[in-house]
Amino acid sequence: MKPLIAGNWKMNGLSNAIAEVEALIAKFDGSAPDDRDVLICPPTTLVAQFAAAFSDEAIQIGGQDCHVNVSGAHTGDVSAQMLADVGAAFVIVGHSERRADHAETNELVQAKATAALKAGLTPIICVGETEAERKAGHALDVVGEQLKGSLPETRDEFVIAYEPVWAIGTGLTPTNDDIAEVHAFISGFAPDGVRILYGGSVKPSNAVEILAIKNVDGALVGGASLKADDFYPIVMAAPSN
Ligand code: 13P
Repeated sequence: MKPLIAGNWKMNGLSNAIAEVEALIAKFDGSAPDDRDVLICPPTTLVAQFAAAFSDEAIQIGGQDCHVNVSGAHTGDVSAQMLADVGAAFVIVGHSERRADHAETNELVQAKATAALKAGLTPIICVGETEAERKAGHALDVVGEQLKGSLPETRDEFVIAYEPVWAIGTGLTPTNDDIAEVHAFISGFAPDGVRILYGGSVKPSNAVEILAIKNVDGALVGGASLKADDFYPIVMAAPSN
């Protein structure tokens, strides 16, 4: 499977941050290697600008969330169709920060993933346990429940990201064995061809090791995706298959 290395910029980046993407592309000598997919999900305000600027490059642009409806009276929301209209190819749904900050349920995440597919976007559906859930030995149960509730019912192309909540932005990561265990478990739920990304404190220093784990088909990178100097070695750390 072709690895996917995705950067989730979260609520970071003004219009001048395009310089970081240009710097990344410069490191690739113009276009990213075609044996891996490279994706940047900037804040919504930058999606159109980035997608227009990089439409010829081997870098794709995605959103970080979408509404379940195509349009309507939903102040402040953005639909999947709107993201697709300005050139996005992917959208993250069900990130733990949205599940926590906006009380998003599995049912809502599933509806968002379905809306994304209808708009022609590839949803990246996030799952992952909290620290307390892992300590109690419930990581696989929690991830299993999230998958059952959040995955779209269609067999269209989608991506799953395993992001343990306690590993996000903390510098902590599960052991390689724990990552392998959860990814093997997730692959039992996923139709063939679905890529399973790992996310949570992926850095240049641990990317080679993590991306070599069985059933890890890429990474969803937060903080280390903001700077080309950090993101480039992570992109290049993915083994080519
Ligand atoms: P960090 O890489 O900053 O830990 O964030 C991971 C994440 O939440 C990506 O979606």
